[in-house]
Amino acid sequence: MKTLVYGAYGYTGKRIAQDALDRGLDIVVAGRNGTKTRGLGIELGVDARVAEPAELASELDDIDAVLNCAGPFAHTAEPVVDACLDTETAYLDITGEIPVVEMLAERDRDAEAAGVPLLPSVGFDVVPTDCLACHLHDRLPGADSLTLGVETRAGLSRGTLETVLEHARDGGAVRRDGALESVPVGSRTRQIDFGTGSRTGMLVPLPDVSTAYYTTGIPDIETYVAAPDSAGRMLRLGQPLLALLAVGPVRRLLQRVVRAVADDPPVQPRERDRVSVWGAVTDGDRTAVSRLETPEPYSLTVDAATTALERLDAMAELPTGFETPAVAFDAEFVLGLDRVEGFDDEPLGAPETPTSE
Ligand SMILES: NC(=O)c1ccc[n+]([C@@H]2O[C@H](COP(=O)([O-])OP(=O)(O)OC[C@H]3O[C@@H](n4cnc5c(N)ncnc54)[C@H](OP(=O)(O)O)[C@@H]3O)[C@@H](O)[C@H]2O)c1
Repeated sequence: MKTLVYGAYGYTGKRIAQDALDRGLDIVVAGRNGTKTRGLGIELGVDARVAEPAELASELDDIDAVLNCAGPFAHTAEPVVDACLDTETAYLDITGEIPVVEMLAERDRDAEAAGVPLLPSVGFDVVPTDCLACHLHDRLPGADSLTLGVETRAGLSRGTLETVLEHARDGGAVRRDGALESVPVGSRTRQIDFGTGSRTGMLVPLPDVSTAYYTTGIPDIETYVAAPDSAGRMLRLGQPLLALLAVGPVRRLLQRVVRAVADDPPVQPRERDRVSVWGAVTDGDRTAVSRLETPEPYSLTVDAATTALERLDAMAELPTGFETPAVAFDAEFVLGLDRVEGFDDEPLGAPETPTSE
């Protein structure tokens, strides 16, 4: 399966391209900057293609799959998907952006007609949480409510910070009765035991409010990130400042500042940057709680994205239409990744009474 890695000279794209080559996958690198793209092609010894996202179709004649690593995906996913559907090429990405996942879900029929998969979020967002959600749903198939939590101390890349700023003005989101509902970020907290005692989790919109719904069909989904007790209060006080991010020039200025002053995380991850993932489902009578431990997000993203390419490559026939990682593969997909512990399952219990504010 010949794969074009788009956005390949970015921090994450380059790590994925290198890892794919180390695994013997057939890749070409691509991006919009000619000097950087050709330079990377020479460095890695592979074919390099230069194109803006909207012009990518002309580069896909001999390509079976595109792995889009160019974010914010709000600017790249749609034209790259159009190029893939026009040329009957499989589409994968590493987005963690809710509107992008929703846009891809809406293109399901187009992808079915083109006979190719649209497979978003094959990175840290959302492979561990999507697989955990699927595993929890398998444990309690009648569940109608899902809560996910993530605890990490790992740093963020400049591209991720830029993407977070891109969507900060959107505020938070939960899924209620099957529909996305806007709620302010940090408007709710709850106590979560990630395996080392109780910590405060703050309501933060993770892409699972989209992906986990398509994976499990569970109509009520909330997502939390472990945060200091003060973080929720500070965020609530800072809501008026967040509104400023709706002003395009202000947002773009902040994105340029972040790009100039922030550092990408080290390529060699620190062991203490491991991530704890927690999930709970309930059907009203019983609750299932499971946990998962993973390496830091960028190492996992590289591993998950290239493993996804390997898994597709090994399939006699590619899936078609919109698929989440746990549906395209299965709940165990995450367990095959490097340094991921197995699911840690608590016995089924009575519904919990969450302490929240
Ligand atoms: N799912 C996950 O867990 C996960 C993990 C890692 C990263 N990500 C996401 O992946 C994206 C990239 O992260 P990164 O750390 O690699 O960032 P990065 O180092 O800033 O790289 C971004 C890449 O995307 C390209 N790009 C950005 N906007 C573009 C556009 N409009 N048209 C064409 N190319 C464009 C950039 O090219 P230029 O330099 O020419 O702009 C660069 O090649 C971010 O959105 C990040 O949030 C997700």
